Amino acid sequence: MESRCSSKVDKVESLGDMATYLITGANRGIGYEYCRQLQKRGDTVVAVCRSASKELQALGVRIETGIDITSDASVAELRDRLQGMPIDVLINNAGILERVTLNELDFESIRKQFEVNALGALRVTQMLLPHLKAGSKVVMMTSRMGSIADNTSGNSYGYRMSKVALSMAGKSLSHDLKPLGIAVAILHPGLVQTRMTNFTSGGITPEVAVNGLLQRIDALTLDNTGTFWHSNGEVLPW
Ligand SMILES: NC(=O)c1ccc[n+]([C@@H]2O[C@H](COP(=O)([O-])OP(=O)(O)OC[C@H]3O[C@@H](n4cnc5c(N)ncnc54)[C@H](OP(=O)(O)O)[C@@H]3O)[C@@H](O)[C@H]2O)c1
Repeated sequence: MESRCSSKVDKVESLGDMATYLITGANRGIGYEYCRQLQKRGDTVVAVCRSASKELQALGVRIETGIDITSDASVAELRDRLQGMPIDVLINNAGILERVTLNELDFESIRKQFEVNALGALRVTQMLLPHLKAGSKVVMMTSRMGSIADNTSGNSYGYRMSKVALSMAGKSLSHDLKPLGIAVAILHPGLVQTRMTNFTSGGITPEVAVNGLLQRIDALTLDNTGTFWHSNGEVLPW
């Protein structure tokens, strides 16, 4: 298949009224909410997950199941199923959080979090690059817990370290993809009520988080590519 990223441009083109979004980790939490809001506003959604939830099935969007982002073969299968379908926005949302403390250092868990959070997102982006073109956008769903400057409480070794690596991958991608006209956003959703946070009462709802995240994605250009934003619009420190 011919690469869609062959032309050099200075500006990200407008995506127009309707665009195609591919979202990983789409069966629940923030990923599901992306699918819901995007479908509601009329965009085309490709929801990628390991197994579809009832809620996701009820949306009526295209769903690609059985995709584990830690596996080359699995992501290659996704790429083959897409059959060259153009993607305007790739949202690398799938992620895991496992608590790892200094007293109980679990290197297997740290490795697993790197595999999913950092390597998985980079693998999906690299393997789906032929589906992107000048004007497309890539989103890395990182975390403020991956901000070194913002780390005032320690712990969470695997999650923090893997999200730093993810953010760095996003920054490198922003440089490498800019000549192709593809912009990259490195986004923190806020503390959000999902299974990852045990639906913490101190968090914002997925609805509020994704509403802000979509504003950041809509405003993403080649001029502000590679920026680390909170869903509320604040630029976060590395
Ligand atoms: N919630 C927060 O407060 C918060 C804060 C900062 C950043 N984030 C980031 O936002 C993103 C979404 O988080 P969330 O809160 O919505 O979490 P969530 O409810 O736990 O959902 C995580 C998603 O990732 C998928 N996933 C995990 N491992 C995978 C793998 N190997 N291959 C494919 N999919 C995989 C899960 O699929 P399964 O159902 O198959 O497990 C699920 O769909 C994550 O990257 C997270 O780190 C969240």
